[in-house]
Amino acid sequence: MCVRDFLSAKAEARRLSMVTCYDYTFARLLSTSAVDAILVGDSAAMMVYGHRSTLPANVELMRLHTDAVARGAGHKFVIADMPFLSYRKGLAAALDAAQTLMSAGAHAVKLEGIDGHEDVVERLTQSGVPVMGHLGLQPQSVNVYGGFRVQGRTEAGASEIVRQARALEELGAFAVVLECIPADLAAEVTAALRIPTIGIGAGAGCDGQVLVLQDLLGLNIDFHPKFARSFLDGARSILGAVADFDHAVKAGTFPLAEESY
Ligand code: KIV
Repeated sequence: MCVRDFLSAKAEARRLSMVTCYDYTFARLLSTSAVDAILVGDSAAMMVYGHRSTLPANVELMRLHTDAVARGAGHKFVIADMPFLSYRKGLAAALDAAQTLMSAGAHAVKLEGIDGHEDVVERLTQSGVPVMGHLGLQPQSVNVYGGFRVQGRTEAGASEIVRQARALEELGAFAVVLECIPADLAAEVTAALRIPTIGIGAGAGCDGQVLVLQDLLGLNIDFHPKFARSFLDGARSILGAVADFDHAVKAGTFPLAEESY
């Protein structure tokens, strides 16, 4: 997969799949899967570190996770999130942040929104850095919304999202994530763009879908957003395995002779 394949997938109406990943072990597993792309999301701040938002992620944290994922990802296309404010401190700082993530092994960066950092998107795309946009619910703006809320429900909100998506395409973005917007609006944005839309909580009318790996695997025992289907009861499987281990240790049946030196 490369940037051009995102565009041809859209042209050929092939749906794209993307999952988040934050570490080497899962990246190595995903490298043997059919998913089209791996996103080193700033959701690492929540999924790996237990923060309540993505705001504590910074460039150094994203560099470390991108580096680990890239080492396991094989030929998969790896996109790294530009963390909170890293692309709002001027062009030079944004380019430095993108350089750090690309040097760590990302093939593209993702950033939220567009208004006020059009110059960053344009300069990155003109400098060999493929850019994925992210519209709708922008988790880095959680404090503006007052919570993680569906966006684009009003007519004005919806046309803003359409405008921003067109602007991203115009500035050279190769794809755009649409998070938590009404399905009709996501379908409208998808129809308006030549670049693919990747939805999360945005209905079936997008060109592709992304899920947080922990949600997909059913590992998130505290939070079950409506849109996040668990394709595995991972929590039950893992707790079952841990219970089996605990039982075997306490019963003296682990380790066996053939498991010993
Ligand atoms: O950080 C992340 O996990 C994301 C996805 C929600 C698309 O940006």
